[in-house]
Amino acid sequence: MVRLKNCLFTSCFTTGHKNHSIEPAKGFAKSRDIAEKYDQTANGGHYDVRYKEEQEKKYEALLQLLISDLSKVVGHRFDLDELFMGLILDSGCGTAMLFDFLRDQCNSTGVGYVGIDISLEMLRAGHTKLKGKGGDLVQATAELIPIRSGSMDCIFSVSTFQNLDDRQQEAYFQEIARVGRSNQHVFLFSFLDKPPLSERVDDIIASLDRYFRHVVIAPKRRDIEDQILACSN
Ligand SMILES: C[S@@+](CC[C@H](N)C(=O)[O-])C[C@H]1O[C@@H](n2cnc3c(N)ncnc32)[C@H](O)[C@@H]1O
Repeated sequence: MVRLKNCLFTSCFTTGHKNHSIEPAKGFAKSRDIAEKYDQTANGGHYDVRYKEEQEKKYEALLQLLISDLSKVVGHRFDLDELFMGLILDSGCGTAMLFDFLRDQCNSTGVGYVGIDISLEMLRAGHTKLKGKGGDLVQATAELIPIRSGSMDCIFSVSTFQNLDDRQQEAYFQEIARVGRSNQHVFLFSFLDKPPLSERVDDIIASLDRYFRHVVIAPKRRDIEDQILACSN
């Protein structure tokens, strides 16, 4: 499933072998439990059936925020077709539902999609979506992304952040900043708006401010559980 494409990946872990899985980085043992939890959720296509509608609302809200508020503060209108001609990283991609969604939104999406996730079973469930359409799925932690620095034009990370502890969160932001194409990339980000994160929204925005000149947050909606944010330089 994983191809080495123009040396984009610094290392990779194939999803093709049942017993081949990544060890969480030292001290990040919580990731093992999270991976096991999502491995079980993925079973039998359950995740897509249960969460597709909910996640697609978040994807729509992220694109809306990008086109409207972020375009305004940056001073130029983001064009989705143009943006998705580049390389897209989906950090904590799960079953790659975003891949299908983006392909429906614009013609150019597909070939440049890379999804990373800690759960091998979530990636396996996403495998069929990418078949014959381009894109790659890689088993990796969001705190140590095996992708070259400065390579990504657009990074999505939807409903993954709430799975990380404080130390992982810092590494997560550093990695998002590192793999983004310097001063040009867009980060479309959401996290579950429940305690403890709902009590730390200002801190999270302050962390993002360290890496991005522009950070916008969508007004809370009753039908979306996450905080929705868009960032760029
Ligand atoms: C709620 S699901 C969201 C999946 C996907 N973004 C979507 O929109 O459907 C959270 C995902 O984050 C992944 N995840 C959790 N912790 C992770 C980590 N440290 N590194 C990479 N992926 C992680 C889980 O395996 C799971 O697939």
